[in-house]
Amino acid sequence: MKLLLKIWRQQNASSKGKFVDYPISGIEGDMSFLEMLDVLNQQLIDKGEEPVVFDHDCREGICGTCSLQINGEPHGPDRLITTCQLHMRMFKDGDTIVIEPFRAKAFPVIKDLMVDRSAFDRIQQAGGYISVNTSGNTVDANTIPIEKTKADDAFNAAACIGCGACVAACKNASAMLFTSAKVSQFALLPQGRVEATQRVLSMVRQMDLEGFGNCTNTGACEVECPKGISLENIARMNREYLMASVKG
Ligand code: SF4
Ligand code: FES
Repeated sequence: MKLLLKIWRQQNASSKGKFVDYPISGIEGDMSFLEMLDVLNQQLIDKGEEPVVFDHDCREGICGTCSLQINGEPHGPDRLITTCQLHMRMFKDGDTIVIEPFRAKAFPVIKDLMVDRSAFDRIQQAGGYISVNTSGNTVDANTIPIEKTKADDAFNAAACIGCGACVAACKNASAMLFTSAKVSQFALLPQGRVEATQRVLSMVRQMDLEGFGNCTNTGACEVECPKGISLENIARMNREYLMASVKG
């Protein structure tokens, strides 16, 4: 395949970025999107030019670092996959592909296509944990009976990989889907109920402090989420937040 890539180049957070055109050829349908960018970068290095900076780590849909906006969609045109799992067979010979970083005030650009998503870490640190007695008389988690449906819902919420596609997809750059998944995975389990009140208040406060927008129920986050995190988690977090606010 021959393609024209329009890639966002930006030196650092304070400089102005711009799109640069890169024609590329010899791309196979079996290549992943990141392998296609590897080919481009090798060509740029061979010409003595600066390679395009982009985030990646596991390249198997687990770590959540591969954050690319491809033709206007976080993680590109396929569904329920991350950018690293996107294959070039989703594109046609002669296509133009626009590649940008995830856009949100709370995700400042580090360089080119790489953004700083440490805001998510700080939301997680605000309450995304449980306190467990490890002094020698720990209760085996498997001895605590948990309804199957609740266990399944908690597991599904825990599938969030913190990639940030929900924020990039949202016209308000809201982090509600991410935060609600992190709240839900604990709120549904008895181990998570102990600190539930403080958790939801702290995580929502941190989410607001980081500059994410509010949720207006558009649902774009759910559509673009590579892990199929459901909007039900946002509804659950809103209920948790209301109850916690009443309790104080
Ligand atoms: S909710 Fe989905 S889109 Fe948002 S961070 Fe988690 S996995 Fe990524
Ligand atoms: S590189 Fe880890 S999810 Fe894509």
